Amino acid sequence: MAPQNTNPDTTDCSQHECPFTVSQLVAAMASENDILDRTTGASEEEQTSFADTIQQYWEAGPSKRFLCSLVRNYIRQLGEHNVQSEALWNLLLLALQQRHSEIPDPHQSCYVTFSMPTQQQKQLTVRIYPYHNDVALRIWEAGAVLAEFLLQHPEWVAHQTVVELGAGVGLTSLVAAACSASHVYCTDFTEVCLQNLQHNIERNQLDCTISCGYLEWEAFGNYQEASDPRLQESCEKIAQANLLIAADVVYDVCAIPSLVKTFQRFFSDSDKDDDSKTILLASTMRRRETFAVLQDELKAKGIDCNVVADGDYYAELPLVFPMNFVQPRKDVNIYVLKIGKG
Ligand SMILES: C[S@@+](CC[C@H](N)C(=O)[O-])C[C@H]1O[C@@H](n2cnc3c(N)ncnc32)[C@H](O)[C@@H]1O
Repeated sequence: MAPQNTNPDTTDCSQHECPFTVSQLVAAMASENDILDRTTGASEEEQTSFADTIQQYWEAGPSKRFLCSLVRNYIRQLGEHNVQSEALWNLLLLALQQRHSEIPDPHQSCYVTFSMPTQQQKQLTVRIYPYHNDVALRIWEAGAVLAEFLLQHPEWVAHQTVVELGAGVGLTSLVAAACSASHVYCTDFTEVCLQNLQHNIERNQLDCTISCGYLEWEAFGNYQEASDPRLQESCEKIAQANLLIAADVVYDVCAIPSLVKTFQRFFSDSDKDDDSKTILLASTMRRRETFAVLQDELKAKGIDCNVVADGDYYAELPLVFPMNFVQPRKDVNIYVLKIGKG
């Protein structure tokens, strides 16, 4: 299951002028499988009717995140070449714009401060948006657990050149920097997330050099030199890095192939020996099937994946980043990924 929207403002329509009752909206959300079951072979009329219904829900309905994902899944299932309805194309456009334009309300942000016992109680402060829809604006279980793991085992990052993928608010990267990494480059892909990352980097004056930049997995996996200037810096940083870290990036099955391509480029895009390069991946087990897709994809690319710490291992460790998580911390596993030896 992908991280869920927990923003009550977007699901409770009582504060808006909403033409639907809450139960109608709940029914609409529950019927995703029904809608998708009826997608294959849908006529132009049916496509338009689907688009019109979603349009009606758009301004006052269930979360936009849910509606966007429904539209994308509908079109994926239909097959792009079978889209005949102009209304449906327009809706897809709206969904894509939405994905990149949700500007968080600054009043919905807050700062959380943690002190790190293994770092002489040094403090870290990060800005989060706990009620915003964007998954990149809060701290997830896997990010917190990986950060705690690094605090216990700073040898993984000390004097290493580190890149983080899908860094979100940057907690794990900041901890890596606090644990004496020689350089940390944290990456993500939306404008709002990168602005928040930059803010969090500046808020914490760490000794290690830490910076952030744009790295979208699909674009990066298919990147040819100079095809996208925004990716140039990330290419250079990935080539210099010897440790790649990533937390809670395995939840959308469609994104797994490009994520693994990014892993593969990390192992191959450098003069350094593959052996000196390692990936630490923290993943929350929501659906075993999703993780199995990752394992198959890694195997196909010759990347070995082994558990380095599981819930039993760190259940006893001190809780450094206590947040109100949806998933128990014990559901997070930490894996080490290396290029296989044939
Ligand atoms: C569930 S959040 C995890 C954030 C953080 N690592 C943590 O554990 O708190 C997933 C992160 O992956 C990023 N992400 C999702 N799809 C991506 C893509 N295609 N390219 C780059 N980043 C992506 C999101 O923006 C988000 O920051």
